[in-house]
Amino acid sequence: MNADLTGKKAVITGSTAGVGFDIARTLALAGAAVVINGRRPAAVEAAVARLAAVAPGVSVQGVACDVGTAEGCARLLAEHPEADIFINNIGIYESRDFLDVQDEEWSRYFEVNVMSAVRLSRAYLPAMLKKYFGRIIFISSEWALNIPADMIPYGLSKAAVFHLAQSLSKRTSCTGVTANAVLLGPIRPTGEDSRGADGEACLTMEETLSAFSSEHHALASGFPHVATTDEVADTVLYLASAQASATTGALLHLDGAVGVARLRTN
Ligand SMILES: NC(=O)c1ccc[n+]([C@@H]2O[C@H](COP(=O)([O-])OP(=O)(O)OC[C@H]3O[C@@H](n4cnc5c(N)ncnc54)[C@H](OP(=O)(O)O)[C@@H]3O)[C@@H](O)[C@H]2O)c1
Repeated sequence: MNADLTGKKAVITGSTAGVGFDIARTLALAGAAVVINGRRPAAVEAAVARLAAVAPGVSVQGVACDVGTAEGCARLLAEHPEADIFINNIGIYESRDFLDVQDEEWSRYFEVNVMSAVRLSRAYLPAMLKKYFGRIIFISSEWALNIPADMIPYGLSKAAVFHLAQSLSKRTSCTGVTANAVLLGPIRPTGEDSRGADGEACLTMEETLSAFSSEHHALASGFPHVATTDEVADTVLYLASAQASATTGALLHLDGAVGVARLRTN
């Protein structure tokens, strides 16, 4: 598939590192002008420079702000009031017992993981509707469907995110705008040494167990395959492309065998 995003502008939250950075790089290499985001100005500046070096000739800009606040979203929107492609990638997660999480932390999970998605998609949607083109993509998690006992705030907030994608797809039906969610299982950074001959990142059971703490996440013992950040980025590229005009309201699972494990346990 040749996904050409020339002439499109993509805003990716939480994108100076990790999954967000690889999404930004992949969209930039497909020709999109990209806007990188993170809270730390130095990290944003460094990420913009890295990206500009790998995607010369493409517009790469950055905004340092906390999109987990209304003020931070307003700051991003003041600099970039319109986008053709909005990737709500930001997500905070932590292993904590339900009994230890107080109201303030619950609010923070919902402000960062949910309200950033609500505020920014609500702001970007009107211009997308006018142009009869828009792509809103939410990065959710497999843990939203099968919430680990020690990640309840995370799982609930990520469930809200995929429900937002599905409900927005109804709101935008037949408008040229699509809204989708990608549900990630554990992800590991792309790296030459993490790739098998056929490009897959296959972990040994020992690697999987030590990386993803099977003590806390019993389902981790069912992962024969863990996706790389590149694979996530390529999935997002498909959803962002013109070719994906009929894919809306979808939950795309990049979860190796987690879904299989979920079927087994439900
Ligand atoms: N990694 C996984 O295995 C995995 C699995 C399932 C789902 N996911 C989901 O995938 C998404 C990306 O995960 P990741 O592991 O790549 O994330 P990550 O490494 O924690 O993301 C870090 C990026 O987010 C920025 N950031 C953090 N808080 C921010 C805020 N409030 N406002 C703006 N930027 C902020 C960081 O910059 P600053 O520190 O400078 O702010 C940095 O650019 C998340 O939604 C996560 O829930 C990840």
